[in-house]
Amino acid sequence: MTIRAVVRGVGHYLPERVVPNAEFEDRLDTTDEWIRSRTGIERRHFAAEGETTSDLGAKAALAALKDAGIAAAEIDALIVATSTADYTFPSAATMVQDKIGMRGGFAFDVQAVCAGFVFALANANAMILSGQAKRVLVIGAETFSRILDFTDRGTCVLFGDGAGALVLEAAEGGGTSADRGILATDLNSDGRHRELLYVDGGVSTTQTTGHLRMQGNQVFRHAVEKLAATAHAALDKAGLSGADVDWIVPHQANLRIITATAQRMQVPMERVVVTVQDHGNTSAASIPLALSVGKARGQIKEGDLLVTEAIGGGLSWGSVVLRW
Ligand code: UT7
Repeated sequence: MTIRAVVRGVGHYLPERVVPNAEFEDRLDTTDEWIRSRTGIERRHFAAEGETTSDLGAKAALAALKDAGIAAAEIDALIVATSTADYTFPSAATMVQDKIGMRGGFAFDVQAVCAGFVFALANANAMILSGQAKRVLVIGAETFSRILDFTDRGTCVLFGDGAGALVLEAAEGGGTSADRGILATDLNSDGRHRELLYVDGGVSTTQTTGHLRMQGNQVFRHAVEKLAATAHAALDKAGLSGADVDWIVPHQANLRIITATAQRMQVPMERVVVTVQDHGNTSAASIPLALSVGKARGQIKEGDLLVTEAIGGGLSWGSVVLRW
């Protein structure tokens, strides 16, 4: 008997305010045409004043619990992947735990920036396989609008706010790649590259929140090379190849990166879930948002083989192969 972490429910939440590219044309030397053609982004959502990461995360979590038909009280562990928690501490996860009325179990944040959801999924999987938890709520929630420098056209047009969530539950599998659930994970970091993508403030440095700084074209170069490599590594561990993939559900940073990665994996774009046009880059929220939207669109169906892959500040990058 093999224990698998199987997806029981998925949900998402996007703040009401939609910001089209045109809004940036008034205050910056940029155009809707440049943003669309260089990134694929057409619009993004920004949280309202006073709306926090844990607010978004709690709404996504409740949607996922509803989809799963599982009560908050039945969850053993709650993980929030985020780099934009409400406070320095406590964790966004304990705040979400309170907001969804989950009184038992345990909750903590995972911080691997845009790769955070992949890292959180791998941790949830490990907790389920070890018997530490039976049901885990894994949430990606971000308010990157709070750390953008709105005078820097190279970064502020790229990011958005949102949240997505998955409910994972332990189930018995046959031990083959035909099982539902998480089949393989691959995680990587290389701290030498921290200056390519970072926030220039923090608790033990400036005692300020700081703003996001990125050498976009350098990150782009690493992304194209590392994302296909990590996806292949995870597929190899599962004994599968690109030909077995029903859906790539990539981190949604840039359509050109998504396309280049799919090409390297020899997976046609018809089998890639793309939401970057509507959400922008929502960091750790982008993959669970794409999973939820992909299911709602009727793209992702039970039994489909999915590969998620993401890269972000650190650099940190990784991939999860799962059968939905
Ligand atoms: O989620 C975490 C991982 N992050 C990513 O994956 C982001 C990776 N990087 C990217 O997506 C792309 O590198 C960007 C979209 C950020 C930039 O695209 P690029 O094709 O790499 O452009 P570039 O940075 O090489 O800049 C090309 C030109 C520059 O002008 P000059 O120096 O050639 O005159 C930039 O100043 O485009 C200019 N530029 C803009 N022009 C109009 C940069 N931002 C803008 C803008 N509007 N918003």
